[in-house]
Amino acid sequence: MNIVCIGAGYVGSVTAAAFAVLGHTVTVIDLDPRKIEAIRAGTSPIYEPGLQELLHECAGTTLFASHDYDAVGRASVVFICVGTPSKADLTADLSYVKEAARTIGRHLNPDHYTVIVNKSTVPVGTADLVSSLIEETSGLTSGKDFDVVSNPEFLREGYAVEDVFYPDRIIIGTDSSRAKTVMRSLYGPVLNREGYEMLRGAVPAPGTRPPAVWFESGTKSAELIKYASNAFLAVKISYINEMARLCETLGADVTDVAKGMGLDSRIGHKFLEVSSGWSGSCFPKDTAELLATSRKYGCEQSITAAAVEANDRMLLYCVSKVQSRLKSLPGKTVGLLGLTFKPNTDDARQTQAQVMARQLESLGARVKVHDPQGMEMFRRLNPDLAVEYCESPEQVLAGADAAVLLTHWDCYLAMDWESARPAMKVPYLLDTRNVLDSRKMLQWGYVYEGLGK
Ligand code: UDX
Repeated sequence: MNIVCIGAGYVGSVTAAAFAVLGHTVTVIDLDPRKIEAIRAGTSPIYEPGLQELLHECAGTTLFASHDYDAVGRASVVFICVGTPSKADLTADLSYVKEAARTIGRHLNPDHYTVIVNKSTVPVGTADLVSSLIEETSGLTSGKDFDVVSNPEFLREGYAVEDVFYPDRIIIGTDSSRAKTVMRSLYGPVLNREGYEMLRGAVPAPGTRPPAVWFESGTKSAELIKYASNAFLAVKISYINEMARLCETLGADVTDVAKGMGLDSRIGHKFLEVSSGWSGSCFPKDTAELLATSRKYGCEQSITAAAVEANDRMLLYCVSKVQSRLKSLPGKTVGLLGLTFKPNTDDARQTQAQVMARQLESLGARVKVHDPQGMEMFRRLNPDLAVEYCESPEQVLAGADAAVLLTHWDCYLAMDWESARPAMKVPYLLDTRNVLDSRKMLQWGYVYEGLGK
């Protein structure tokens, strides 16, 4: 099939590479010349484990990149994978989606049927909006010349290559049986796991992932499935984080509590790992949009609202732990390890580190930071922060009065904590992910604290 992906971000570049590796002819369209050049050269425009290898496999043979929309006229399927950032009122900014829809409309080929797929996370009703914008600019008829399908993406950053070949579910929102047939044939190799069979080595092995479930619904339900899923996961994390604070007060251990809870198959173990809170490019913006929309329609989602509040409180709680340990913050140096919202990504948008660095600076502390992949983006997004960027975690610890481990990158787990300790002014370490060996840390002389212990 001829496929087009509009947008070469975290979703578009992975989706495009996956379908190109499966043998389709894919053109990625993006306005950013650096992304186009990177894809043409078979190099990854973002840091995502395994993506570079996929791009290298198919660039120039089945994968192409362009800044113009000419390939839309040849395509059977056009994916919209553009960003939907939050506006000032916290609703999703659909301007990139609308612009993509209008431009697709101007380039659609009236001689053949095309499926336009919304992969971006978009508010309920966007499939209808995209459909009418395409009708306006193309003069074509939805349901006859083209259909718009809602097919939300559930890729996790850091595991996107695994998730794209072995998703838990493929949600197809449309009433059109013609569009469903096209989508089924497109996703056939993913459902049948032919990617791995065809391309042993180039795609990850399925491991223990169960086969994907194909699920069809209307467009609005498909759109809401994405928001409802992300909000539910955010609730789960906020729940265990709040429980961690209760554990500290009562003298229980949140790791044991989470383990014991997770043994109930109705609850499960996943997303019960303690942290300073959830953050990143999806949960904050998606919960905000869900809340704004539900309020607009007079149907407030109080549980999601509580999860957001609990999440904000959790981060301030972590700051207060450092503050109470150091008595006062002015003149003190605090090191932050991890600027991305989780390991194995360079994504430093809306992270815990950003809020914490600001909070610490406003309380008078000097802040030193390190991240193996996220420093460039963090610096670009926070030009006003006076933090010191360090080349290594050891450099962060040197001379610090306290350090906070925010993101559990492998390099922090593997570093030589014993040798790093003497360089700290005060060896206080707050491990917000409970990933370091507390017994050893104490033995090496750290004033070590986890969360919920
Ligand atoms: C999420 C969804 O999982 C994915 O399906 C959706 O398409 C996009 O949003 P992602 O944002 O990549 O993916 O990250 P995810 O792995 O879900 O983690 C979100 C945040 O929650 C991170 O900050 C992570 O560190 C935190 N988290 C996750 C916890 O604090 N505890 C947990 O138990 C799990």
